[in-house]
Amino acid sequence: SGPDTMSPTGQATGAAQARMAPSGACLTDAQGTRLYDTDHSLKAGPRGPVLLQDHHLREKVMHFDHERIPERVVHARGAAAHGVFKSYGTAAAVSKAAFLAAGAETPVFVRFSTVLGSRGSSDTVRDTRGFATKFYTEEGVFDLVGNNMPVFFIQDAIKFPDIIHAGKPHPDREIPQAQSAHDTFWDFVTLHTEAAHHTLWNMSDRGIPRSYRMMEGFGVHTFRLVAADGSTTLVKFHWKPKLGVHSLVWEEAQIAGGVDPDFHRRDLADAIEAGAYPEWELGIQTFPDTPEQTFEGIDLLDATNLVPEELAPVQPIGLLTLNRNPSNYFAETEQVAFHVGHLVPGIDITDDPLLAGRLFSYLDTQITRLAGPNFSQIPINRPHSPVNDMLRDGFHQDAVHRGVAPYRPNSLDGGCPFLAGADTGAYIETPVRVPEATKVREAPESFSDHFSQPRRFWLSMSAVEREHIIAAYTFELGKCYEQAIKERALQVLANIDAELCARVAEGLGLPAPDPTVPLAEVAPSPALSQVGGSWPTD
Ligand code: HEM
Repeated sequence: SGPDTMSPTGQATGAAQARMAPSGACLTDAQGTRLYDTDHSLKAGPRGPVLLQDHHLREKVMHFDHERIPERVVHARGAAAHGVFKSYGTAAAVSKAAFLAAGAETPVFVRFSTVLGSRGSSDTVRDTRGFATKFYTEEGVFDLVGNNMPVFFIQDAIKFPDIIHAGKPHPDREIPQAQSAHDTFWDFVTLHTEAAHHTLWNMSDRGIPRSYRMMEGFGVHTFRLVAADGSTTLVKFHWKPKLGVHSLVWEEAQIAGGVDPDFHRRDLADAIEAGAYPEWELGIQTFPDTPEQTFEGIDLLDATNLVPEELAPVQPIGLLTLNRNPSNYFAETEQVAFHVGHLVPGIDITDDPLLAGRLFSYLDTQITRLAGPNFSQIPINRPHSPVNDMLRDGFHQDAVHRGVAPYRPNSLDGGCPFLAGADTGAYIETPVRVPEATKVREAPESFSDHFSQPRRFWLSMSAVEREHIIAAYTFELGKCYEQAIKERALQVLANIDAELCARVAEGLGLPAPDPTVPLAEVAPSPALSQVGGSWPTD
C-alpha cells in the first residue's frame, strides 16, 4: 500500500531501497535535499553559539532521540530468521487450511526468544524459550506462538500479569536481570501449585538449550482443526528439530553467558549464513473432539498438562527450513507482531482460559509497542494475501485508501462484494455448543491435579538428568533470601517426589518436610485484603 517501502519479505523496493543504504553518492536529509556536511552544527562563527535555524541538526538529533521503541513486556530478547514451510499433506484430512495441502510451500518468519530478560540480557540463562512462527499463507497470516516447553505456569490468563510481575526483576533493586532465582518467583510458583510442572521443566536441562536449532517447540494449548467436510479434531502442535534436542550443562551455560552473551543469536545467524539451514518437522497429536474435551482423563483445556506421546503419537505434517537471516533487526525481528488470534480457515481455538486471555493481550500490547493500530502494515507483518478491510486512518497509516464508503453494504464503491458466505473461503468460527452454565469465577475440578504430571516427568528422567534438576533447584532456591519460601518449595517438591525433595533439602541444608502435610496448609490463598500497597496520602 505504501509507495516506497519494503516488500512483505523484507526486500527493499523503490525509494526505500535508496534509503536503506547510506553508501549512495550523496547524503540527503529526510526530505531528499542534498547535504554537504553532517559533522558540524551551523554556528555564528567557528567558536560561536549554535543556531536554532539549523534544520539538519534538529532533524538528525530529533530522529535519534526517538529511535527506541518499548521492548516487549515479555520475550523482549529474541533472534529470528526467514524460511519456508513445506506441507506433507498428511494433515489435509483433518484441516482444510490451504497451507496444509500436499506440497504447499509457505513463506515463514520465526522468532525465538527468552521470556524474562530485557532486550540486552544474556542468551544462555535458565528460562523458557519462545518459538513463534508466522506463516504467510495465501488465506491470510497464521501465527503459531509457542514455547520450547509443552506446558505453562498457569491455567488462566488472568494470572499472567501476576506470574510475570513475580518473575521480572524486583521493583526495588532490579535483581535479577534474567534468571528465575529470586524470592518473588519462588513465592509465586509455590503458592500457585499449578506452576509446579512448568517450573520442573525449567529446572530441567530444557531450561538451558544448546541452540535454538536444537529446541523443540510446542503450541501448548489444544487447538481445533476443521476439515473440508466440517468435521473437527482437537490437536496439539509440536516442532521437532532435525538436529535433535540438546542442552547445555549449567557450567557451559555460565561460561557461554560470560564469554558470549549473544551465544544463541550468533549460533542461529552463523549457521544460516554458512548454509547449515536448521529444520524442524511440524507434527500434531490428535484427539477426538468430544464435548468433554478430555483425552485419557487429561483435561485438554488445562495448559499445565501435556498429553504423553505414548498415548497420542506426534504425526508429522510438514517441514520448516530457516534459510535467510533478517537484513535489519529492527525492521523485522523487533517489529514483528505475533498473535494467537491470527488464524486461517481450518484452524480454530478451544475454550482454554489461558488462550482466551492471550487472544486479547497480543493485539493490545502491540498498540503500545508499535505505536498505534496500523502495525499490520509494517512490511514484516504484511499478509501475502490480498487485504481488503474497512480499517482507516490512525497513527502510522501507510496506505492511501481509495473510495469514499468504508462501510458495507454501500451503493457507492461497488458495495464490497465480500462476506458472501462459507464457499468464499471465509474464516468461519466452529459452531461449538456452549453448555448451559452459571457465571462464576472459578476453575473446574479437573484443573486441580497439580502433581501427577510433574511426578511423571521426574520419573521419566535419566540419572544424569535428575542430578541436573536437583542441582538446579538447589542453586536457584539457594538464591532466595526468605527461609519460608525455601521451606514451601520443599513441601511442593515433597508432593512431586520424596527423593527429589530430600536431595534438594540436603543441598539447602534444611530438613526434608513431611510429604503428608496437606499443601493447602503450606500454600494458602492469601486474602485479597492482605495484598500490599496503597496510594500515598501525602
Ligand atoms: C509474547 C508465548 C502466554 C502475553 C510471547 C512470545 C511468545 C509467547 C513466543 C514472543 C513472540 C515474539 O517473538 O514476538 C506464549 C505461550 C504462552 C503465553 C506459549 C502460553 C501457552 C501468554 C499469556 C499472555 C501473554 C497468558 C497474556 C495474558 C504476551 C505478551 C507478549 C507475549 C503481551 C508480547 C507480545 C509483543 O509485544 O508483541 N508469548 N505466551 N502470553 N506474550 Fe505470550
